[in-house]
Amino acid sequence: MCGIVGYTGMKNAAQVLLEGLSNLEYRGYDSAGISVFENNALYTVKAKGRLADLGKKLESHVLTSGCGIGHTRWATHGEPSDTNAHPHITTKLSLVHNGIIENYNQVKEFLQGKGYVFESQTDTETAAKLIDYCYQGDPEAAIREATKILEGAYAFCILFADHPGTIYCLRKDSPLIVALGEGENFVASDMPAILRFTRNYYLLEEGEIACVTPEKVTVTGPDGSPIEKKVQVASWNVEQAQKGGFDHFMIKEIYEQPTAIHSTMHPRLGHDGLPDFSASDIPGDLFQNVTKLNIIACGTAMHAGMLGKALMEKLARLPVEVDMASEFRYRDPILTQGQMALVISQSGETADSLAALRLCKQAGVPVIAIVNVAGSSIAREADYCIYTYAGPEIAVASTKAYSVQINLMYMLAVSCALQRGTMTEEAARAYLAELYATIDRVRQTLDLADTIKEYAQGLKEVSDLFFIGRGIDYALALEGSLKLKEVSYIHSEAYAAGELKHGPIALISNNVPVIAMATQRDLLPKMISNIKEVKARGGHVLLITGEDYEVDLSCCDQIMRLPIGDDAFGPMLGVIVLQMLAYFASIARGCDVDKPRNLAKSVTVE
Ligand code: F6R
Repeated sequence: MCGIVGYTGMKNAAQVLLEGLSNLEYRGYDSAGISVFENNALYTVKAKGRLADLGKKLESHVLTSGCGIGHTRWATHGEPSDTNAHPHITTKLSLVHNGIIENYNQVKEFLQGKGYVFESQTDTETAAKLIDYCYQGDPEAAIREATKILEGAYAFCILFADHPGTIYCLRKDSPLIVALGEGENFVASDMPAILRFTRNYYLLEEGEIACVTPEKVTVTGPDGSPIEKKVQVASWNVEQAQKGGFDHFMIKEIYEQPTAIHSTMHPRLGHDGLPDFSASDIPGDLFQNVTKLNIIACGTAMHAGMLGKALMEKLARLPVEVDMASEFRYRDPILTQGQMALVISQSGETADSLAALRLCKQAGVPVIAIVNVAGSSIAREADYCIYTYAGPEIAVASTKAYSVQINLMYMLAVSCALQRGTMTEEAARAYLAELYATIDRVRQTLDLADTIKEYAQGLKEVSDLFFIGRGIDYALALEGSLKLKEVSYIHSEAYAAGELKHGPIALISNNVPVIAMATQRDLLPKMISNIKEVKARGGHVLLITGEDYEVDLSCCDQIMRLPIGDDAFGPMLGVIVLQMLAYFASIARGCDVDKPRNLAKSVTVE
């Protein structure tokens, strides 16, 4: 996720910016840049890669400026490159941006009509040029004018060439603070950037614009009226601040899910309420004549693919096969014309998934990728790429990446169904409206943390556990089991509930807990029968189901109720419980939850 730092004061701005940005490195980035006022003119240096690469480029210049802005970029629109790195500059200004400008294509077309020429592939360049277009000597007026047009989420930090020593900044749906020093002031997207210099700060609210000089900070509201801000005092150390006050990255990332889902879904929801992937250059008829889809991925991403299969087959009546990437290429897969492959990967660098992608391409099967890391190998080599906007996942166990992957599965399945004529536009609109409403239900599910923690405490001494589910709940059970085993080291198995009696039920006893996922209304009676089979063998059952589902309470030992609306989206809530369960079980057992033993975040070997 991108990071912003701004500084104005007596210190060497370039050094303060580099130090501030280095404290944001943990957020992940692929390029960096700074702009400073040097001899009253704007001077900008940008570099693809690490901050050290930027530092090297800066070595050949003696910079003495006391005012500047800096940025680390986590690529979303456009690959990591010097050109796409921030700041984006015009003759009048330099701008850095966190967030996503959703209507950048329309804004770009408008500005091109006015004679603007674009160099980068970013959404940010349109914001810089739009403010340039609106600028007539009053920075705040220009910013206000431009933000009437810009849609999306943003935190901006801007230097105007004719206002040396002053930083202008604002935010909407993306955090930004102004930190206060003695004869110097700072701007930052995140607290760790400034903690070494000061602990006093203002939190900017939606639509507020701050004008920051070394001596003072003035804040105005969206209508231009002055606002009195209350100084807040940060009490975290750098490490606590990097985790946003949470104890671990995994739980921080679990809580980031509503925002991640919103960021991924909103730009793909057209004004007509239908899916729109045109910004990812996906042709509107891509699926029309496809005869079969091969979904290929590893681990958690493959579990997202299993849900995708169920959705594609149900909504679009498209036959889908799901493969573990590590098995795919050694099973001599049948790849013929008319087929399409979908590769899902958070990192975009998983060796097995990449090899499977190459095999499909060699066989002439077009590949769509769903990837979180822009510019990664899978993103570059696929024929089409749809990015998830989860931001960097730092904890080894994948959480928010799964949620955004399944969110895209729902959206792609609807898009596919519309193309194949198996769903009406009216039904698609209603379905996606309900999917969008699920984001709030995800938020409510996070409130179950205390109940989940209490249950997880009871798993402290457990050595084996079963997850069971039917239909899409089986795919969910697999993900719950993977999460639990990787971070808590409890041995667990996931079984299709109806399959249990064909063997594994022999393992059920009173010291083997069973977690039954039942988010699907029509499958509930069948699930209850399976749960009763477990209970009859002495198993202790936790049932996870909908809040208004009718359940005979005697069938289970404990129950957790989820705020499920349309049960098609039950897995989006169920997975939150399973992730938290794994997290709290790991903590209860004293495991290193963010870095589980033997695991790496990106598996670049076969
Ligand atoms: C589990 C987990 C792994 C990854 C798998 C694929 O929590 O993180 O199972 O899902 O290694 O990685 P990506 O998605 O980067 O291809």
